[in-house]
Amino acid sequence: MANFRRFRPDDLNKLSKCNLDPFTETYELGFYLQYYAKWPSLFQVAEDQHGNIIGYIMGKLESSPDVYRFSEHYLPWHAHITAVTVAPEARRLGIGRLLTEQLEAAADANNAWFVDLFVRTTNHKAIAFYKSMGYSIYRVVKDYYGDNLGDPSLPSEDAYDMRKPMKRDVKREHIREDGEKHEVDPSDVW
Ligand SMILES: CC(C)(COP(=O)(O)OP(=O)(O)OC[C@H]1O[C@@H](n2cnc3c(N)ncnc32)[C@H](O)[C@@H]1OP(=O)(O)O)[C@@H](O)C(=O)NCCC(=O)NCCS
Repeated sequence: MANFRRFRPDDLNKLSKCNLDPFTETYELGFYLQYYAKWPSLFQVAEDQHGNIIGYIMGKLESSPDVYRFSEHYLPWHAHITAVTVAPEARRLGIGRLLTEQLEAAADANNAWFVDLFVRTTNHKAIAFYKSMGYSIYRVVKDYYGDNLGDPSLPSEDAYDMRKPMKRDVKREHIREDGEKHEVDPSDVW
């Protein structure tokens, strides 16, 4: 059984069960603390009976800077999933789903139009996970991942920008049926 609660700063040295996964990025410590300080309701963890963190989701609320208001790429008020990860031994138990539902509830509570995220186009398991939760491809960000998962012999990789409309988007204006046909450069993503 997992216990779900908000992230606390003393969780930072308990993330390795999740962060050793190659699809899970490890950030500078200050990056996690910034999310904790700004958007605590969008930073949730799942812990096992020994207090190990076996899953977490970290997100933020934002819109594009006002200077881009008239750009076709302008992003209205929304929640963004910066990271969601579940330790390999705890997968397919519904933990990722519960964490994501918690973030979506916080997005609705903050009147967000949608929740979005970026995922590697080769991360088929995560794409299947997001699709199962009602997310769809909004656009393809070309060469978004230049880090090649740490292997310089690999080419850079595209990202799917995926979205799920929240309650506010009654008319589903912020999603696309044909998102895979919409390609953008990373410079169009702010
Ligand atoms: C993606 C991830 C967070 C899913 O977490 P999880 O707790 O295993 O997911 P859940 O058990 O809640 O799965 C919910 C549904 O998603 C789908 N799903 C999840 N994992 C899947 C997989 N490996 N293959 C196909 N579908 C999958 C299924 O429909 C599943 O429902 P089901 O088990 O009843 O069939 C987890 O695999 C992970 O941590 N991956 C590595 C990190 C990562 O890629 N994060 C995303 C980066 S953008």
